[in-house]
Amino acid sequence: FVAVLDFGAQYGQLIARRVRDLNVYSEIVPCDISADELREMAPSALILSGGPASVYAEDAPRVDPAIFELGVPVLGFCYGHQITAVTLGGKVAHSEVGEYGPATIERDHDSVLFNSTPLKQTVWMSHRDSVCEVPEGFTVTASTDVCPVAAMENAERRIYTTQFHPEVKHTEHGQQILSNFLFSICGLEKNWSMDNLVETMTNEFREKVGDDRVILALSGGVDSSVVAALGARAIGKQMTCVFINHGLLRKNEPEQVEEVFTKQFDVDFIHVHAEDRYAELLAGVTEPEEKRRIIGTQFWKEFFAVAQQLETDDKPVKFLAQGTIYPDIIESGARKTGGKASTIKSHHNLIPFPEGVSFDLIEPLDHFFKDEVRALGLALGLPEHIVFRQPFPGPGLAIRIIGAVDKEKLEILKGADAIVREELDAYNARLFEKTGERNSEHSCWQYFAVLPDIKSVGVMGDERTYQRPIILRAVESSDAMTADWAKLPYDVLARISGRIVAEVPGANRVCYDITSKPPATIEWE
Ligand code: XMP
Repeated sequence: FVAVLDFGAQYGQLIARRVRDLNVYSEIVPCDISADELREMAPSALILSGGPASVYAEDAPRVDPAIFELGVPVLGFCYGHQITAVTLGGKVAHSEVGEYGPATIERDHDSVLFNSTPLKQTVWMSHRDSVCEVPEGFTVTASTDVCPVAAMENAERRIYTTQFHPEVKHTEHGQQILSNFLFSICGLEKNWSMDNLVETMTNEFREKVGDDRVILALSGGVDSSVVAALGARAIGKQMTCVFINHGLLRKNEPEQVEEVFTKQFDVDFIHVHAEDRYAELLAGVTEPEEKRRIIGTQFWKEFFAVAQQLETDDKPVKFLAQGTIYPDIIESGARKTGGKASTIKSHHNLIPFPEGVSFDLIEPLDHFFKDEVRALGLALGLPEHIVFRQPFPGPGLAIRIIGAVDKEKLEILKGADAIVREELDAYNARLFEKTGERNSEHSCWQYFAVLPDIKSVGVMGDERTYQRPIILRAVESSDAMTADWAKLPYDVLARISGRIVAEVPGANRVCYDITSKPPATIEWE
């Protein structure tokens, strides 16, 4: 497999993705992984990603110099190009003029990396620093007017780096360059597809578990449903799916989850009614991280209680399976990314176990991004309405009610949210019909209602009202790492607003959140 050393999350993801698109398996690893750790993982090739830092910045991510001695071919882009230069004795200079966007490179005749690509070609650049002196043993293989070392290589050691980004679509021959590296230089075979991923993951699941028992934290969302389908395939009824109903779910959701997992799937399914316990624990709690902590901690307690009940029959429940995906890990402060990311939000399923609770974890999706999880779900035979469900956070509506959660606010939010989903489901369906693409331009990736902790004055039927506003949040994204607010047509906005105010008692105003991520996040808490 190909290990992508990630110097800045969004770049690494794209590279791993492009490699997989060429039917070679690829995984992201933290950039500060040691050569020894890598040796153990035995990758066939390394790719060093781009990243936002300057190689000379004080806290710039470094790379273990010994990785260049592993004898494994290395390809580096942008930051990966510069860090290779600096680590192997070359120099990087801070230039006055940066290069952002399309640029034309002129390439060397002989470099295998550029085989089957024109001598002059358009590439995508995004840099200010540049390599000004290549390390010993390296030759320059491409340049632009402002960037003398747009690519360099040491063919004997099989180290190739480019200042530009072959992984982005705007680099005309990027996929050919990547393909040259993987097949001509590394001699890899095209031996990876979704189907054999399913096969490999099923086997891994089975091997890890042996004949021990597993419980799965099932929320009914895409991620945990994919793990449920995988677990069902791998170990059947050795796994019990536990659905904790914390009372913070969307309208009709508990019923739908129960329906799918009792009627369409042959799994053991337990519905835990924990609504009252949660309501009591959350009463008066206003601080977002505190809410998340309470909800996550209680989740583990609920699971543990179920596990203990299950243990009375034959075997103890050793494993807890959950649908953690890669972005959850990054944003929760990088449990497995070498501590590079800072905590943005504590994702629910990454809250530490409370005292007395212990399970071994199985998180088969922890290297994948949402769109890949969806592809995996389809390959596993999950129905489309589950696979294309929009993401819903573990702490549920509690983090969409600003301030303390209570029954009345939950009712208002559930009502408004159901309207938002109905209208935007229909809007997305219209776009899908027109374009044939699920996530086409302007389709909404995630959409919901938020209830802020304020009231405002309105007038309804000649009467003064003093009620709550609803905030509409609708974003375009592909992986939740970045997002833009959806440019919804006015008539769609008008319909949503009209319906909420007319149909939801307690709501008298609707506002639209027009902030991207960053600087905001998708959820409000
Ligand atoms: P933010 O708000 O961080 O959200 O931009 C990014 C994506 O993650 C979802 N989200 C969560 N998912 N547990 C989850 O499983 C959580 O605690 C959680 N918090 C946010 C959010 O809905 C969005 O899709």
